[in-house]
Amino acid sequence: MGALVKVSIIYYSATGHVAEIAREMAESATKAGADVRLRRVGELAPQAAVETRPERAFDAEMTADVRVAKADDVATADDLIWADAVLMGSPTRFGNVSAQLKHFLDTLGGAWQRGLLADKVYSGFTSTGTLHGGHESTLLALATTFHHFGGIVVAPGYTHPAKFTDGNPYGTSHHDAGGAQPVDDVTRAAARIQAERVVGVARSIGAARAAA
Ligand SMILES: Cc1cc2nc3c(=O)[nH]c(=O)nc-3n(C[C@H](O)[C@H](O)[C@H](O)COP(=O)(O)O)c2cc1C
Repeated sequence: MGALVKVSIIYYSATGHVAEIAREMAESATKAGADVRLRRVGELAPQAAVETRPERAFDAEMTADVRVAKADDVATADDLIWADAVLMGSPTRFGNVSAQLKHFLDTLGGAWQRGLLADKVYSGFTSTGTLHGGHESTLLALATTFHHFGGIVVAPGYTHPAKFTDGNPYGTSHHDAGGAQPVDDVTRAAARIQAERVVGVARSIGAARAAA
């Protein structure tokens, strides 16, 4: 096996779907030999608004063990600076990245200015409520930011036969059908393929840099 690849998986999730994809990716990346940080970004919605949506308790439940295992599980700029590869996920909000993840991105100006976000592998994932509700627009919006970082954007493409089943070459995307459809085997397979590809490409880049 080559050098240990450092992967940060950074996400926002309100009702647990993106969190579940992130966890699947974390497991896959770990199995692929990576050193993995799994990090949520902080909540921006007022507590009163959160409490009006009981389904949001789901995310707290899904990520409880992550919280217990890592008290420092809220993402910071260091999680990107540390990493060779970053997998970043957000629910689709009006066809775009959630304000919570965008707010986190907007805290990265200093690191960006010092060139600390460049030359890493980046890849995105999302979840929507409806089948055509903005998977691709959200993933492309994330990729826009990755370009500004000077990132090496690694999409899954159709690099595995299973990609013809989930059908999204831009990144893993789930649709929760208004909360009725939990993250399923198709989405999990896509998450594994993407995580393994990200680790593999980051490893190859690391090896090439070490040899240069
Ligand atoms: C304010 C808001 C805007 C949303 N906008 C969209 C949208 O544009 N398209 C869509 O399909 N679903 C939309 N949704 C649904 C979420 O994207 C969907 O439920 C997603 O799976 C949630 O991910 P999470 O469980 O990780 O929070 C929206 C939800 C909220 C609360």
